[in-house]
Amino acid sequence: MWVSLASALPLLVAVAAFPSKNREHKVKELVTPPPGWTIHAPAPSDHVLKLRIGLPQSNFAALEAHLYEISDPYHERYGAHLSKEDVEELVAPRPESTGAVTEWLASHGIREDDIGRSPAGDWLTLRIPVALVEKMLDTKYHVWTHMGRGESIVRTTSYSLPQSLHEHIELIQPTTLFGTFKKLKSTIHSINEVDAIVQPQDFSPPGLESAGVTVDASCNSTITITCLKEIYNAVGYTPTAKGNSIGITGYLGENANRADLQTFYEDQVPAAAAVNSTFEFISVAGGLDSQNASEAGGEANLDVQFAFGLSFPVPSTFFSTAGSPPFVPDIGTPEDTNEPYTDWLDFMLSHPSPPLAISTSYGDDEQTVPESFARRACAGFAQLGARGVSLMVSSGDGGVGDGNPDPATQQCITNDGRNRTRFIPGFPASCPFVTAVGGTVFFPEQAIDFSGGGFSNFFDRPRYQDDAVEDFLEKLPKGTYRGLFNRKGRAIPDVAAQSNFFRVFVGGRAFHIGGTSASSPAFTGFVALLNDGRLSKGLPPLGFLNPLLYSKAKSGFNDITVGNNPGCGTPGFNATKGWDAVTGLGTPDFGKLLELVT
Ligand SMILES: *[C@@H]1O[C@H](CO)[C@@H](O)[C@H](O)[C@H]1NC(C)=O
Ligand SMILES: *[C@@H]1O[C@H](CO)[C@@H](O)[C@H](O)[C@H]1NC(C)=O
Ligand SMILES: *[C@@H]1O[C@H](CO)[C@@H](O)[C@H](O)[C@H]1NC(C)=O
Ligand SMILES: *[C@@H]1O[C@H](CO)[C@@H](O)[C@H](O)[C@H]1NC(C)=O
Ligand SMILES: *[C@@H]1O[C@H](CO)[C@@H](O)[C@H](O)[C@H]1NC(C)=O
Repeated sequence: MWVSLASALPLLVAVAAFPSKNREHKVKELVTPPPGWTIHAPAPSDHVLKLRIGLPQSNFAALEAHLYEISDPYHERYGAHLSKEDVEELVAPRPESTGAVTEWLASHGIREDDIGRSPAGDWLTLRIPVALVEKMLDTKYHVWTHMGRGESIVRTTSYSLPQSLHEHIELIQPTTLFGTFKKLKSTIHSINEVDAIVQPQDFSPPGLESAGVTVDASCNSTITITCLKEIYNAVGYTPTAKGNSIGITGYLGENANRADLQTFYEDQVPAAAAVNSTFEFISVAGGLDSQNASEAGGEANLDVQFAFGLSFPVPSTFFSTAGSPPFVPDIGTPEDTNEPYTDWLDFMLSHPSPPLAISTSYGDDEQTVPESFARRACAGFAQLGARGVSLMVSSGDGGVGDGNPDPATQQCITNDGRNRTRFIPGFPASCPFVTAVGGTVFFPEQAIDFSGGGFSNFFDRPRYQDDAVEDFLEKLPKGTYRGLFNRKGRAIPDVAAQSNFFRVFVGGRAFHIGGTSASSPAFTGFVALLNDGRLSKGLPPLGFLNPLLYSKAKSGFNDITVGNNPGCGTPGFNATKGWDAVTGLGTPDFGKLLELVT
């Protein structure tokens, strides 16, 4: 997907063109590794790193301004999404930056042919051995191992750049990124095998009635497509519009199995089973598509079955992004360390027509991702939003904490070198340009205790959240959790959906799966249905949702007011009237939302 701009750039830059007075290195970034990582050995000098260099996106502020205008339902430009080319123009680096970085690379013998450039030219990638990277960045790489998990990675805790390059380079990875691909967590909370025989609906106890909605009593202990349509007021809605689409991202070698999808459809979506409906598979950076039943993934199957089952017959795509193979330090095999969000974002941003609603059920503790990297990945999500894509992300399964039940592994301790106790928000949920989805359970609904919620330590609270979040903060008893969270931070989640007892088929067997891993694809299914409503009326798709959700669409949510999300040795926050840091604005009332957005 990288476009070579070789012909467009001056190739005659000689080594001497890089003035020596500017070669003095100055530290660009310095981190304390997260708890658990220790140095194992110096990095093998011939180990090849896939280095990514991020050049400043000179006009990102303008992109952000466009994004907020076109996502504000009261603005005259609402829905006027930007084209791929418009976005690329706005994030392109200044020519001075491109020139200075190209010169610097040439001074180290790196030729234009060796450099991959993103379509906008804001990311460069090159594969070079550790020995050369160490010289260029005036640093020393080591093999680090994680005490608990036994994983190994090649990283450094600081790197430097010639003084004159600081303004032309925003970040370089892999350097200080200790939140590795392998650490990226699927947000599944529990899996239990259940009876694969379908419960005939006739034998279910009578329906539960609440606010005029009839919900089958079985939905209190087993969530199916029918249950979600009942609970969220979408019974009988069948999408018909042309041009709609929905996508699921997969990582960690999770395989979405087509035979399991068919079994699921036979169980829960007969109309899809009748036509043998399936999804398109797209491999990102070498992601594989095993259809071997014993390699079917619980996460991937949950995601595709519910997102695609809810939105059938909307065209659906599963994106599998490859992970890096485990690095074996003592063998010293050359290995490529990919960074998951950027690999996926590169691909998606290069794609001429990304799916209009995309769900991601993976994440990590915000603090394990370097801030510079988180900001840049978040800027990539903004770019997709500007193009009319709605991005949903699970808010995490640790309540206000990191979900780690073992206090020995330093739950809720900051890795800023100060070892403070602090709530741990999740990333990418904490990016203000995605819609973070928390979890509920039962009917009538209440918050589920693991629902990830809280406040970013990196991202300021976006304006669209001001009213809702200030109301919530004002209601907190004075001094609550002082020092444990950032009152000015982007608050999560934005919304919620059911998150337990999802009836999923994996390897031909039925399971109950729970986690905000279930909430995000479920919410995304309804977003695809809302897009259908808009497209059918000739309106543009919803795109970046949050400014709409917190304003015009606020009344289209069921407010959840029972439950809390414990973590870090505290009871966490309470679900309250209005927005709260457990279930956000609440769960969707599709019927109401459809009226509000069409
Ligand atoms: C669903 O289960 C929850 C938890 O057991 C219970 O509080 C609630 O009353 C049940 N709902 C109904 C309608 O039975
Ligand atoms: C359904 O798809 C499967 C797998 O691709 C194929 O083997 C089967 O023949 C299809 N059945 C129908 C009815 O199209
Ligand atoms: C399917 O996967 C399992 C587990 O990885 C493996 O043992 C088995 O050999 C595979 N079967 C085929 C036909 O490849
Ligand atoms: C923080 O914890 C780490 C690991 O336990 C320890 O090495 C370090 O000295 C501590 N730092 C402070 C400032 O307490
Ligand atoms: C949550 O609600 C309980 C019971 O009303 C109250 O005692 C507690 O202070 C509340 N906690 C927070 C963080 O608001």
